[in-house]
Amino acid sequence: MGVEKTVGEAWLQERVQHMEQVLASMLPAEDVKPQRLHQAIRYAVLGGGKRVRAALVYAAGEAVLQGAAPTAAQEKALDLAAAAVELIHAYSLVHDDLPCMDDDTLRRGRPTVHIQFDEATAMLAGDALQPLAFELLASMPVAPALTVQAVTLLAKAAGSMGMAGGQAIDCESVGVALNLEQLQEMHRLKTGAMLKTSIVLGGIVAGASSTQRQMLNDYGNAMGLGFQVMDDILDVTADTQTLGKTAGKDAVDNKPTYVSVMGLDEAKAFLASLHEQSRMAIRALGNGGQYLSYMADYIVGRAY
Ligand code: IPE
Ligand code: IPE
Ligand code: MG
Ligand code: MG
Ligand code: MG
Repeated sequence: MGVEKTVGEAWLQERVQHMEQVLASMLPAEDVKPQRLHQAIRYAVLGGGKRVRAALVYAAGEAVLQGAAPTAAQEKALDLAAAAVELIHAYSLVHDDLPCMDDDTLRRGRPTVHIQFDEATAMLAGDALQPLAFELLASMPVAPALTVQAVTLLAKAAGSMGMAGGQAIDCESVGVALNLEQLQEMHRLKTGAMLKTSIVLGGIVAGASSTQRQMLNDYGNAMGLGFQVMDDILDVTADTQTLGKTAGKDAVDNKPTYVSVMGLDEAKAFLASLHEQSRMAIRALGNGGQYLSYMADYIVGRAY
């Protein structure tokens, strides 16, 4: 089922470049009024980021299409869905970095948005990116019933019982000794929900059956959590230069993470078990699941 590493790498690289172009074309230009806000929006979204969520949209689409070429409408819808999840993600990073949250000055190897611009502009850039994501989803050339499903899924994943809720728990948990169950719940919400929804959205747009949706859901549960476990690991094992964000920040801020709760070795072992779980979930997709399988390898093997 797996794809050769070099094939997967080339696929991902091409998808990342493609996403960059799609996003650049969908965002208001820098000279559109109010210019400073649009400059901040473009700064927040473009020129960086691994585009993991976008790649998962495309990989899930590929898995459902099972080697068939997407129609022009499906291709457009996948682009819009991939852009939508990247916009919500970019907004979540801008707000995550604000002084009232993680107070970070470095993101994607550059000054964070509130440092490069100012706090009010950073807040407003996030505020504007969120509705834009839904505008894009609403314009997908798919059956109206699928649009409604997609919009509902993304709204839930980003909201108080998804990413924003997880971020609230994160803020409340500074200096608190969470047990494993509480930690898992926080990670599942703040990061897992958006990752999983990216995968399911890709499937929906490509016309996934209910069985396929279930497989994508199971894969997404494992990899969504796994993504944040790896983020916690990298915070202690990688350096600032490689990460493009300040290393060692979780310990300095007294954040409960998989490393602080389990220890580094246990966290790595747990991540390996999630990797295995994700591979099992998509076994029945056969060769169609090759890029999802590659993305799971990428997520647990990444250096930043
Ligand atoms: C970082 O996400 C924040 C988390 C949810 C862990 P990414 O590691 O996907 O950040 P970019 O988009 O590549 O910068
Ligand atoms: C952020 O988690 C999750 C989001 C919803 C943005 P982190 O606070 O650990 O992300 P980084 O390490 O700053 O990228
Ligand atoms: Mg945070
Ligand atoms: Mg942070
Ligand atoms: Mg982190």
